[in-house]
Amino acid sequence: MPVQHWLTRYHTGVASIDQLHDELFDRMDRVYTDIINKSGAALVSKQVGELADKLIEHLDEEEGEMRASGYAEIEPHIANHRALRTQLAALKKRANAGGNVGTDALDALNQYFTTHIKQFDLPWAKTLAK
Ligand SMILES: [Fe+2]
Ligand SMILES: [Fe+2]
Repeated sequence: MPVQHWLTRYHTGVASIDQLHDELFDRMDRVYTDIINKSGAALVSKQVGELADKLIEHLDEEEGEMRASGYAEIEPHIANHRALRTQLAALKKRANAGGNVGTDALDALNQYFTTHIKQFDLPWAKTLAK
């Protein structure tokens, strides 16, 4: 599933954030490709684990930056991250246990992540750009 063409829709204008978001979308894209190509559960689990770790790292970074800059709307943003973390933990657990990770699980993550960027990352990035 080529995601590049719609990626720019989610660009915040803050280079460091956009770079990381792009990387996360690229990783999701790779996992989709592996699932569709039936590349094997072991590879898919590894990719999902790496994707989840990278995404968690990204959330930590964002929260650190929001704290450092005294962002007024930090609480609802972090609350939304928390829900994403729960989803990621479940996905990782499923992958680690050798459970089947299908495109449905990734769709849910993708859906959540794109909504999160639109609703929370974009408004936050606007305050940084000022
Ligand atoms: Fe983000
Ligand atoms: Fe965020």
